[in-house]
Amino acid sequence: MNPGITGMYCISCGADFTVGDHPFGCDHCRRRGTPASLSIRYADPFVLDQGRRGMARYPARLPYADGELPSLGEGDTPLVSLPRLAGELGLGQLLVKNEFQNPTGSHKDRMNPLIVARARQQGYETVAAASSGNEGVSLACYAAAAGLRCVIVATSGMDPLWQQAILATGAEIVLTETAPARWDYIKERVDRGEWFSATNLIDPPVGSACFGVQGYKVLAYELYEQMPEGLAQYILVPVGRGDLLWGLYEGFAELREAGLIGRLPALVAVEPFPRLERVTSAADCARHYPGAYGATPSIGGDTVTVQSLLALQRSGGFAASADQRLVPAAIRRMAGQGLYLEASSALPIACLEQLIGGGTVARGSRVVLVATSHGFKNVPDRAQA
Ligand SMILES: Cc1ncc(COP(=O)(O)O)c(C=O)c1O
Ligand SMILES: [Zn+2]
Repeated sequence: MNPGITGMYCISCGADFTVGDHPFGCDHCRRRGTPASLSIRYADPFVLDQGRRGMARYPARLPYADGELPSLGEGDTPLVSLPRLAGELGLGQLLVKNEFQNPTGSHKDRMNPLIVARARQQGYETVAAASSGNEGVSLACYAAAAGLRCVIVATSGMDPLWQQAILATGAEIVLTETAPARWDYIKERVDRGEWFSATNLIDPPVGSACFGVQGYKVLAYELYEQMPEGLAQYILVPVGRGDLLWGLYEGFAELREAGLIGRLPALVAVEPFPRLERVTSAADCARHYPGAYGATPSIGGDTVTVQSLLALQRSGGFAASADQRLVPAAIRRMAGQGLYLEASSALPIACLEQLIGGGTVARGSRVVLVATSHGFKNVPDRAQA
């Protein structure tokens, strides 16, 4: 583990914690009914290892280093410019960060090497995750690479394409009746000290394993390096429980602290229906927001997290949603530029068009869309609401 780690802290109330997994987040915030994630303090400032690629490029600010990570070549994803679509929308620049070019085709591959490294270091033989698809495939692949047992707990709504990929790695799948039952199933084994959980176990939820979420900071570092002319004003991110959103925020905040950037880009959380859009305080994060997620199960669910709220507030961002009826056209619009995306990853273009139409995003703006997953993952018509 990085010898520069000096402790952990609650991202909401700031309380200090000793270095550990803390699967239920901050005790103080949880007692107040608003569980919040923990993050990691480092002694050393942000530095680049110019000779390396992927996660290994940023050794000072990640919990595990090259030799400790079961790497499959994650990270270093391209940032692609779409000038034709930018012109149609009246934007100054429209760029897409192609996270689907990670080894298992989603951004989750930035989180799972760290989770597997942590589990292995702590002596666990089994890693588990509650997943609707992408997290399950990614954790299964990294566990396989590290020789760990992996159990993915899902509902029967998980597309058979994902189930097939998970089983092919040798991982097991347990199907529960409901999504919250997945958390209970894993929590029982975690409480007995048998499994290391990659994902949340409680309701209201916290983010995924804090050592893993650190991996998403690298996406912010890469954007900083890929945009020497200055970062975009807006970054649109498909959001479920907000691990990616928080990691991006934390990465940009570190760059600001190091004096490398001024203002943070406004992070825009893209949801299938208004959840975070209805949240103004941590107390709201304890509520449930039911809604139909149709073809976008990867960002479904009726809960929100404090980490998502804080990432929006602290970056000057906001949440946006688009009607499910706009999904097929959004998929075609991105595919028409050569980027065939999973429905959840295409949804940002539908939101962006609405935001420009409504004047929230000014014409001439520079915008980045994070394309979290490619279109070969599921069959949108098969997804359940
Ligand atoms: C394709 C896709 N986009 C976005 C997300 C949202 O990620 P997070 O839970 O970190 O908000 C997921 C999560 O499963 C996903 O599969
Ligand atoms: Zn707290």
